[in-house]
Amino acid sequence: MLRPLITREQIELKLDEMADAIRDDYAGQRLILVGVLKGSTFFLADLARRLPDDVEIDFCQVSSYGGGKSSTGVVQIRKDLDINIEDRHVLIIEDIVDTGLTLMHLKELFATRRPASLKVASLLSKPEARTHDTLVDYIGFEIPNEFVVGYGLDYAERYRNLPYIAVLHPEA
Ligand code: IMP
Repeated sequence: MLRPLITREQIELKLDEMADAIRDDYAGQRLILVGVLKGSTFFLADLARRLPDDVEIDFCQVSSYGGGKSSTGVVQIRKDLDINIEDRHVLIIEDIVDTGLTLMHLKELFATRRPASLKVASLLSKPEARTHDTLVDYIGFEIPNEFVVGYGLDYAERYRNLPYIAVLHPEA
């Protein structure tokens, strides 16, 4: 059962705000957006279209969830970046920061490649679920500790296509 949590309109307004902040902070600097596959793709596409012309886009894929609702606690890189990020301004684009494990791991990995700067934008954050303290520079919405789907987020690859975000409840 799906319970709508964040509407399409609320997402649109939030993206405008986030893009304004990012544009101001990176004025005059060329940015690489690094999307974390697959959940961030909708967010990245909509955010990138709100940013100035000269933005580069790359993707990485990690796995910490085995297709279900809870993390396995092990982060593996399944697809690394194509772009060399040394001396570049990198903004990691995440769909959701839950425990913080994935993000902490990614930041540690990318930091070893000596980017000029490394920041993170996440559409959603579940502060109550955090077990790994890691800074998220731009947060769209803080949400309760419930499992959500839609706008890129999945449950076993389903529901990514929903244009809004909903809480997924087990079937009654
Ligand atoms: P973390 O490492 O626990 O912070 O988990 C981050 C990743 O877990 C996200 O990028 C998502 O892919 C997935 N995830 C965490 N919470 C949810 C959720 O509520 N719905 C769908 N995916 C989630």
